[in-house]
Amino acid sequence: MPKKIIAIVGPKGGIGKSTISANLAIAIAATGKKTIAVDLDLGGANLHVILGVRSYEYSLDDFVLKHIKTLDKALIETNVPNLKLICGGSKIPDIANMAFQQKVKLIGHISKLDCDVVILDLAAGSAFNVVDFLFIAQVGLLVTSPEVTSLMKAYGFIKTAIFRLLSFHFKQRHTELFMELLEKAKDVDANPALNTIEKFLKEAEKIDAELVESARKKIARFTPSFVINMVQSARDINTGMVIQNLVKQYTNLNTRVMMTLPSDEAVKRALFKTKPVLLSEPMSPFSIAIKELAYKCMNTG
Ligand SMILES: Nc1ncnc2c1ncn2[C@@H]1O[C@H](COP(=O)(O)OP(=O)(O)OP(=O)(O)O)[C@@H](O)[C@H]1O
Ligand SMILES: [Mg+2]
Repeated sequence: MPKKIIAIVGPKGGIGKSTISANLAIAIAATGKKTIAVDLDLGGANLHVILGVRSYEYSLDDFVLKHIKTLDKALIETNVPNLKLICGGSKIPDIANMAFQQKVKLIGHISKLDCDVVILDLAAGSAFNVVDFLFIAQVGLLVTSPEVTSLMKAYGFIKTAIFRLLSFHFKQRHTELFMELLEKAKDVDANPALNTIEKFLKEAEKIDAELVESARKKIARFTPSFVINMVQSARDINTGMVIQNLVKQYTNLNTRVMMTLPSDEAVKRALFKTKPVLLSEPMSPFSIAIKELAYKCMNTG
C-alpha cells in the first residue's frame, strides 16, 4: 500500500502536467522512495515518452480490458532506480468516460500498489472522474499557467470538486432537497443569492444543520495546492495571489501556491533528447524547482 498518493491535475491541456509528473517522480525516487508513476491520461498517454521508455508489454488498456488481472502486472521498470511506470495505453475510452465500476476497481488497485509513493498524471479537464482521483490523494497538485484563462479554469476546477464532494455527502439524507439546492447554486447567474459556498451552506442548514456541519468539516479537509508552471516574470508569480483570493472569496477555502515553476528551454531540449530534464540538465532552473517541489510534497499531507 502506498504511503502517499500525489495526484497531478489541471483543467487545461498542454500546461505541463505530464512534464511535472515525470520529473517529480524522478526527484522523489532519487530520495530512495519506491515510486510508481501512473499515466491516467488515457487519450493522450505520453508519460513514457517523457521518461524515455520506448516499449512496454502491458498498459492500463490491458488492465481495463481484463487481459491482466492485477494492475501491478502492468508495472514497467525505468532507467531510474526506484522508479516504475504504468503506461496509459490508447485503446480504451478516456478516463472522463470510464464507467463508475471500472473507476472504483482502478482506484482499489492503485491503493494496493506495493511502493512508498504513487504519482498520478491525469488528463486535462475537470470531469468528475478526474476530480475523484484528487479525493484519494494525500497531495493534490492543481497545475495552471499564469494566464488569466488558465487561472479561471483552475478556479472552476475547485468549484466542480466542491460540488462533487457535497453531492456525495448529501446522499446520506434529504438527498432530493439538497440536490435541488445544489443545482440552483451551480447556476450563479440565475441564483446570485447562492453565489458562494458559504451562502449555499447557510441555505442548506435550513434542510439539515447537522449534515451541513459535517460537510463543512469535509470541505475544510480538502486542500489542493496550486502549482503555477511556465512562469516568466515577477508579475507572473503574483498571479498566484489572484487565484488564491478568488478561491477564498467564493469557497472560503485556504488554498496555497505550493510552487511556481519557471519557463525553461531545458524542458524543450530534454523532450527532444527523450531524456527527462531532471536527468539531462539537473541544474537547470526547472530541475532545481522540481526538486524543491518534491521536498514539499513529501512533507505535506
Ligand atoms: N516549465 C516549462 N518550460 C518550458 N516548457 C515547458 C514547461 N512545462 C512544460 N513545457 C512544455 O509544454 C508542453 C506541454 O507539456 P505537457 O505535455 O507536460 O503538458 P500536459 O499538461 O501534460 O498536456 P496534456 O493536457 O496534453 O496532457 C511540452 O512541450 C513541454 O515540454
Ligand atoms: Mg499530459
